[in-house]
Amino acid sequence: MAILKVARLGHPVLRMPSQAVPKETIASAGMQRFLDDMIETMREYEGVGLAAPQVHVPQQVAVIEVAENRRYPGEGPVPLTVLINPKILSASKKSTVDWEGCLSVNEFRGQVPRAESLEVEAYNRKGEKVKFSAHGFFARVIQHECDHLAGKVFLDRMPDLSTLTHLHEFVRYWQA
Ligand code: NI
Repeated sequence: MAILKVARLGHPVLRMPSQAVPKETIASAGMQRFLDDMIETMREYEGVGLAAPQVHVPQQVAVIEVAENRRYPGEGPVPLTVLINPKILSASKKSTVDWEGCLSVNEFRGQVPRAESLEVEAYNRKGEKVKFSAHGFFARVIQHECDHLAGKVFLDRMPDLSTLTHLHEFVRYWQA
């Protein structure tokens, strides 16, 4: 396993649409090692999600894991989830606004509206097609990671940049 280098805002790889992963390559040793490296990298930098372009690989792969009770008490943690070629099949009209950060836009937080719930389809790391619903913070993270796969970052989704906040000031003035 290895901790991968994270691309920061300005690196062109963050602005490229990612390529779909051929289903038959998901089980390959190379892809399985890459998934393990992404998971290790996400945990090392205490992210709740990581998309492959953030480690300089423009392929449609994302990993998500949310530890116990971050910001949505009662919703519980999100277990480790690997999404390959994820598709948001439908999104609720109802949206919620909350703070987001990004390992590629490090040391910033900003308020982003996101659909409250989603229907998602993807391959898991065994190459099985999975379909599931996601709500609240999990749905937020999926939308954030799917944006990365389309070359977007959360700043693009902020209707009002006046909430853009350095992490230090976020903790000092805004953290609930
Ligand atoms: Ni991000």
